[in-house]
Amino acid sequence: MIPRVIMSGIRPTGTGAAHLGHWEGALKSWVKLQDMGECYYSIVDWHALTTEYQDVKNIQNNIRQVLLDILSVGIDPEKSVVYLQSAVKEIAELTLLLGMMTPLGWLERVPTFKEQQAQLADRDINTYGFLGYPLLQTVDIIIMKADTVPVGEDQVFHLELAREIVRRFNGLYGDCFPEPQPFLTPIPKLPGVDGRKMSKSYGNAIYLSDTAAVVEEKIRPMLTDVRRKRRSDPGVPADCPAFALHKAYSKAEEIAMVDAECRMAGIGCIDCKKILIRNVNEFLEPFRQRRSRYEKMPVADILAAGNRRAAERAANTVAEARRLMNV
Ligand code: TRP
Ligand code: SF4
Repeated sequence: MIPRVIMSGIRPTGTGAAHLGHWEGALKSWVKLQDMGECYYSIVDWHALTTEYQDVKNIQNNIRQVLLDILSVGIDPEKSVVYLQSAVKEIAELTLLLGMMTPLGWLERVPTFKEQQAQLADRDINTYGFLGYPLLQTVDIIIMKADTVPVGEDQVFHLELAREIVRRFNGLYGDCFPEPQPFLTPIPKLPGVDGRKMSKSYGNAIYLSDTAAVVEEKIRPMLTDVRRKRRSDPGVPADCPAFALHKAYSKAEEIAMVDAECRMAGIGCIDCKKILIRNVNEFLEPFRQRRSRYEKMPVADILAAGNRRAAERAANTVAEARRLMNV
């Protein structure tokens, strides 16, 4: 399928900042798709509230950090519409309207609903808002009439639900929304420095805004293959999270060299990680430079301009949906 209208969102939660996992899982495709269609990229602050409604003090700062992240990876606000979800009130309106026809059972059987409730047991997210998370996400997408949604693998079920809701709406009231398809990036799961999936909540992430020194501090003590207790012990690269990062950020010759040398204990982990540190830092350098340029600019104005463009498109869609629903 040829993407025509592209939409995706990122939550301004936790420390706010995006990490390499966000880059691999979604932002990389955001950048690529910029030249393939009309792009709408949203900072979804209402979604942040679904899990963090008890602790709202950092939201504004997180929004700014995520905005800088988006701009620093090369999303060009001249090409793509970058906007804040809560600045587009029509999203709330359409969520209310679609809530009328979204069966509770569809929301309750979303796997992330029960999983997250168990995982985030320290907060009470047994709420109306949290149950409605995937409906709100559906509206983010369809209010822009998007057909293509660059996301990580973990969002595939949410998109299936979005398509079901679209089919139900179009069937009940008449054709209004396209069925959105996920656009997946090939390396969805990047390990963090402790070997688990890279995630804000595990504290194992390398952030796009980390300085070169911080990247070094994080990678140097990073977990490696447990077989390499001594320098002379050979290892299995496939069992080493540092190697997984090599595969993402090192040159083909270096990957092949590390792969061979690790197996015969020809290279030590310290030297192996030095190469990795250099490559990760080289990779992040253009992001850092763009970020420092944008930090000196009035990025709130960039967002305000995006908000206006997004709201205009959203208003047209909601008017159409209301006509079809006769309200
Ligand atoms: N649920 C997505 C995530 O956790 C974030 C999101 C919200 C989103 N609205 C969206 C992604 C719309 C794509 C399209 O990453
Ligand atoms: Fe991992 Fe490199 Fe050490 Fe092998 S040499 S275990 S790939 S850090």
